Amino acid sequence: MQKLKKIGKYLLPVSVKKTLKYIYYSAQDLIETITGKRDTSYPPKRLNFVGSSEFKKVGDEFAELFKNKGNLKPEYHILDIGCGIGRMAIPLTKYISEKGSLNGFDIDKRGVKWCQENITPKHPNFQFQYVDIFNKYYNKKGQIQAENFTFPYQNEKFDFIFATSVFTHMLPLQVEQYLKEISRVLKPNGKVFLTFFSIDKTAEENIKNGSAYCTLKYQYGSDPCFYSHKNVPEAEIGFREEWIKKTFAKNNLDKNLTILRGKWSGESHWTSYQDIVIANKNS
Ligand SMILES: C[S@@+](CC[C@H](N)C(=O)[O-])C[C@H]1O[C@@H](n2cnc3c(N)ncnc32)[C@H](O)[C@@H]1O
Repeated sequence: MQKLKKIGKYLLPVSVKKTLKYIYYSAQDLIETITGKRDTSYPPKRLNFVGSSEFKKVGDEFAELFKNKGNLKPEYHILDIGCGIGRMAIPLTKYISEKGSLNGFDIDKRGVKWCQENITPKHPNFQFQYVDIFNKYYNKKGQIQAENFTFPYQNEKFDFIFATSVFTHMLPLQVEQYLKEISRVLKPNGKVFLTFFSIDKTAEENIKNGSAYCTLKYQYGSDPCFYSHKNVPEAEIGFREEWIKKTFAKNNLDKNLTILRGKWSGESHWTSYQDIVIANKNS
């Protein structure tokens, strides 16, 4: 069954899969609207470009992980990198107090627009910004290169920074730049909560023997980076774990560094689908 799923995932070109999904979910939206079943505090299904169809479940799961594993507090100032269409922000509106805040940015215009129009008016301390960064999978016409991007926030503004399923779509120099920027805008001792496909020894073996959920079979030049879709590396990217640890340390982000294993690699004990790297900025 797992093999069949994997064939489906990798057989069709990325653009065809995106179109088929759009048609399928547009029909579901229409049915839910007609039958009065649509929950308008969530985006319509056809606009969901962020992966799993279990949008609410994944958002709720991560809101709990932020609290229980990341020690997120209601009064914290949060940065949501690659906020998508508010999957993480929506559940956090019920937890973050008026003293706290959430800033999100993303390179997908529709996602940011939906958040600005549907979250900010009810929760003015939740703000979202579009940035026109190039990504072959998410924003093919983007004008800014992620490896040169400076986050639009002052130094040491945030207590807690998260990026869920974002560094699984970015190339090595881009991730390096983002970790540098994260370190700049995070308060001393502040917390990062970032998901990766982190390739350790077990993951490497399981990728080779085909029991991992991601194929990650192409190496990106001589980099510590592997990807699954030949023509669109940004569709699914993993990094060698020692490179992740080294790059966190280089950016002063390795205090209390912990990796919670993900299911993707075929691990028997896991916390979520992707690996979660949690650490504090050295003070
Ligand atoms: C799988 S989605 C996850 C979205 C959101 N974090 C969530 O968990 O629902 C990946 C997101 O990363 C965003 N993204 C890709 N490259 C980015 C970059 N350089 N800067 C910010 N966001 C980026 C995409 O636009 C997309 O919204």
